[in-house]
Amino acid sequence: KHSEQVIRRYPLVLLDGLPLSELLEANWEEVKRFKAFPDDLLIASYPKAGTTWLQEIVDMILNDGDVEKCRRAPIYDRIPFLETVEPKPIPSGLDQLAQMARPCVIKTHLPFHLTPKSFWEQDTKAIYIARNGKDNMVSYFYFDQMTTSQPDPGTWEEYFQKFLSGNLTWGSWYDHVKGWWDAKDKHRILYLFYEDVKQDPKREIQKVVRFLEKDLGEETLERIVHHTSFDVMKKNPMANYSIIPKSFFNTDVSQFMRKGFLEF
Ligand code: A3P
Repeated sequence: KHSEQVIRRYPLVLLDGLPLSELLEANWEEVKRFKAFPDDLLIASYPKAGTTWLQEIVDMILNDGDVEKCRRAPIYDRIPFLETVEPKPIPSGLDQLAQMARPCVIKTHLPFHLTPKSFWEQDTKAIYIARNGKDNMVSYFYFDQMTTSQPDPGTWEEYFQKFLSGNLTWGSWYDHVKGWWDAKDKHRILYLFYEDVKQDPKREIQKVVRFLEKDLGEETLERIVHHTSFDVMKKNPMANYSIIPKSFFNTDVSQFMRKGFLEF
């Protein structure tokens, strides 16, 4: 089915009130019924909040800072994206998860209230990363220009209005960061901020290490800080999405790893 999909801009539909690409509709009911394992780990965020960065940090921690092991596959294969149903080359999250050894790490952009209930019934751990609204919106604006399956972002003024009204894929940034914030003390959720990781990566990576109940030495920690820095990740084809064909991520328009610092 996927191979027949042509890469083009897909409109948004409302799924349980959340604006999502119509591509995701086919798997939506199954996504809601997804069965989590207690030892899975969920990485959650609003799009463009630093998800890939957190994914690479987590994979490095779980592999005890082994850089070669973290080069075993592109980040979207190492950590499947639960609800996604993209045109090729990125496969559907559910298809990937069906073949994955469990427990495993799973990425989602779902707001807390639409995350499969099983995660909370199983008391699965989750790490959320939030980014300040302005940088998040700027990053998403460029991403929507280069990602040929996303709705056309239009002009900056139009995009700004859509962002404020929550009329973008995965809905309102505000509801997202707030929903997860309100949930964080009721479940095993570590809530991180992009700006904190930028300011003091070692301190924030240590938080993740403790949350994952790992014990890593100083040298390993330093290696993780280095390997997950913007400049190193930008050059790493297993982390920077550069192997995705231009027909899907048009890097002539914008890079996936674009700027990675505070705009304001
Ligand atoms: P910019 O577009 O501002 O550069 P996501 O992974 O959620 O899609 O987020 C992508 C954003 O995170 C991009 O922001 C990207 O550059 C930034 N990012 C990725 N890796 C990073 C790193 N190691 N350090 C800082 N920012 C990073």
